[in-house]
Amino acid sequence: MAIISSKKQPQEPGKQPKKSRESAKKAQAENVLRPEARDDEQGKPEESIRPQRFADYIGQKDLKDVLEIAIKAAKSRQEVLDHLLLYGPPGLGKTTMAMILASEMEVNYKITSAPALERPRDIMGLLVNLKPGDILFIDEIHRLSRMTEEILYPAMEDYRLDITTGKGPSARTRSIPLSKFTLVGATTRVGALTSPLRDRFGLIQKLRFYEVDELSQIVLRTAQLLNTPVASDGATEIARRSRGTPRIANRLLKRVRDYAEVKSSGEINETVAGEALHLFQVDPCGLDWTDRRMLSVIIEQFNGGPVGLETIAAATGEDTQTIEEVYEPYLMQIGYLSRTPRGRVATPAAYQHLGFKPPNEQMSLL
Ligand SMILES: Nc1ncnc2c1ncn2[C@@H]1O[C@H](COP(=O)(O)OP(=O)(O)OP(=O)(O)O)[C@@H](O)[C@H]1O
Ligand SMILES: [Mg+2]
Repeated sequence: MAIISSKKQPQEPGKQPKKSRESAKKAQAENVLRPEARDDEQGKPEESIRPQRFADYIGQKDLKDVLEIAIKAAKSRQEVLDHLLLYGPPGLGKTTMAMILASEMEVNYKITSAPALERPRDIMGLLVNLKPGDILFIDEIHRLSRMTEEILYPAMEDYRLDITTGKGPSARTRSIPLSKFTLVGATTRVGALTSPLRDRFGLIQKLRFYEVDELSQIVLRTAQLLNTPVASDGATEIARRSRGTPRIANRLLKRVRDYAEVKSSGEINETVAGEALHLFQVDPCGLDWTDRRMLSVIIEQFNGGPVGLETIAAATGEDTQTIEEVYEPYLMQIGYLSRTPRGRVATPAAYQHLGFKPPNEQMSLL
C-alpha cells in the first residue's frame, strides 16, 4: 500500500528561526492538538493501535449501522459494496473505516491519495490491477485532477476503462472491462467535490466528532494495547481535552504516559493526566492558541460578533480554509461559536471559558 503525502522538508539545524519561550510553548500546545497526522504517526506503532474490526471501532453509531447493513446486503447478494464517500474533519477515522470495510468484506484494499494520481496512467494502473470485490481507497479525493476524474466516471459506473488514442477526427476510444470494485473516497472538504463525482457514490457518509465517553473508551482501548495502566477518571480527563478526535486522544495518551512514568508510579489517573496536560499547555476543553485567539478577537474587538471569516483569518494568521475545516467545526460542536449569515458570533459559553463576562451580564451591570 502506498500513502503519498506532501511532507515538509526538515530544516537544516543551524537555520531554525529563534523563537521566544512563550511562542515555542504555544507552538508545542498547538502541535499536540492539531488533528492532522504527524510524520511520526504514520508508521507501524500507529497501525498497531488502529481498530481492525467493526467491534473495535468505537462510536460513529449511525455510520456503523448504515455500513453494517450495506455489508450484509452485499454479501448475501454476492455483490460488491456500493462506492462510498466518507467525509469529516481529520483524525476521526475515515482511513480506519476503509480498512475495516475491507477486512469485514474479506477483500483486499489499495490505498492511495489524490495528489499521487496526477497522470492518467497512475489511476489506470491501479484500476486494471484490481481483483473482483477489491476496495480502492482514495484519500483527499477532492484534489483529483480533471483527467483522473474523467477516467473514474465510467470505471465507477460501468466498471469500464475508456482509453482514447489519437487526436481529432482520427481519435478512437477503446474500452477495457474492469473487475467490479468498490471505490472508497475520503475528504475533509465534501463541498469541494465536483457534482458528477459526488453523484457516482452510492453511499455518502459524514463522520462526526466523538463524545467524551466514546473518546474515553478509545483511550482505554489504546492504553491496553500499549500496556499502560489508566484509571477511568484519567481516561476521561484525556478525552475531555481531545477535541472530539481519536487521533488527538491517542496522542495525548502517549504524552501523559511519558509524564506518568517519569513523575509518578506510572498509573494515569485524573490528577496525573491533568498535571501532564497542563504542562503541555493543553486547555481543559482542548482549545489551542488559535481557537482562543479567534474567540478573544470576536469578543474583545467586535463585541462578540458577527465577524467575517477573513477578519478572523487575518487575526489568527491561519488561512480561511483551515479556520473553516479545522477550527470552526470543533468550536461549534462544543457550543462556543455560532455561524450566522452575517458572520461568526461568540456564545456566552465562550465568554465564560475565556474569563470574560457574558454580554447579558454586562448589560445587567449597567
Ligand atoms: N472509531 C475509532 N475507534 C478507535 N480508534 C479510532 C477510531 N477512529 C479513529 N481511531 C484512531 O485514530 C487514528 C486516526 O484515524 P484515521 O487515520 O482513520 O483518521 P482519518 O479520518 O483518516 O484522518 P485524515 O483525515 O487525517 O486522513 C487511527 O490511528 C485510529 O487508531
Ligand atoms: Mg486518513
